[in-house]
Amino acid sequence: MFFMIDWWFFALYKVKTVTYNVIINVLTKSIISDILFYQVWRCAGLEGNKNRFLKRRKAVMKKQTMYDSKIQFAGISLEFDPINRERVEEDDNVMAIFPEEQPFTWEFAQPYIKQALAQSSGELDFLDVGTGSGVFGILMAKHYGARVLALDKNPRAIELAKKNAENNHVFLAFQEGEYAVHSVQPHSVKVIGLYPPYHIYPEQVAMKIPQHARGGSDGQQEFKNQLFIAGHHLAENGIIFFNQMCLGDESGPSFTRYIPQLVSGHPSLLYTNVFTPISTWDFLQNVYGKRHAGFADWVATENPLLYYTIGIVTYDGQGKIERVPHAIDLTGRSWQDRIQLHAEIARHAFSEGKESS
Ligand SMILES: C[S@@+](CC[C@H](N)C(=O)[O-])C[C@H]1O[C@@H](n2cnc3c(N)ncnc32)[C@H](O)[C@@H]1O
Repeated sequence: MFFMIDWWFFALYKVKTVTYNVIINVLTKSIISDILFYQVWRCAGLEGNKNRFLKRRKAVMKKQTMYDSKIQFAGISLEFDPINRERVEEDDNVMAIFPEEQPFTWEFAQPYIKQALAQSSGELDFLDVGTGSGVFGILMAKHYGARVLALDKNPRAIELAKKNAENNHVFLAFQEGEYAVHSVQPHSVKVIGLYPPYHIYPEQVAMKIPQHARGGSDGQQEFKNQLFIAGHHLAENGIIFFNQMCLGDESGPSFTRYIPQLVSGHPSLLYTNVFTPISTWDFLQNVYGKRHAGFADWVATENPLLYYTIGIVTYDGQGKIERVPHAIDLTGRSWQDRIQLHAEIARHAFSEGKESS
């Protein structure tokens, strides 16, 4: 008899748990916003259990994987390529979205963006350099009604960004090609977004690395190139916001040294470490295993620490450099996730897939 009652309790408990999970799964994967989501939860009489609700929801959210090709966040929906899509040079992948990357950048940069939009006198609100899926251009148009020019050298990115803009009911101007000094008028832009490729790889595999990750073997060349050009485009009191994984040492990421040299007009730099810096050797060891050991040793000796950062460069003539902490929820993400995704990018170089160039 007691055994029967136990069994019934167990069965009821299971039904309840499964029901909770179904509700959470359906809601988090639909377009229902956070507020509506919680209202539905409350109507279902489950409001007393808010912490449990948040914990379970977070667990479901975490199930978003790096192989996904769609996301909804900050009021927009986007399509992009899964990180392991087979690529060739003429049909290259469009960068995927990861919580600690674009959503984090957006959250961190917004106060500075608002200020620059209000205080700078540039004619163009936002120059989206390397737009990829169009993520930042679409966010700027949607949330601030910004006049946006989105450019990318990857035709597939331009195509998908156009589709994403249309699906989000915003207008962006597009330019296909390399970012260059002649891309826009000098000192005409209030806000410039830079998210250059920063995967670290030995030069001999460069052409097998997707272009969204190929920024020079130390991961810094494209950032330096774009910073130099952006310096010519920034209007007074305008800002560059950027995300960047960057080699460095105890004194900081190496961009703290080269940004003041590359961006004209004595700008100020403010940045935050998204994660605590990691040992470069550990990172490369985990990404490449025994492959390219000589390369990994050399890079790690020159640059013992690896940083993952978001930064703001302000064209204010003051030349200050400041690191600030952040209190943004990382939704459980860590270097381990970054290692996994860089290992997946590195796998392109080991694949036997056809290479056209
Ligand atoms: C790391 S992805 C970022 C994409 C998107 N902004 C995001 O955050 O998801 C870099 C993008 O910049 C583009 N890109 C790289 N170098 C470029 C250059 N010199 N001129 C124009 N686009 C470039 C790549 O094709 C890629 O789409």
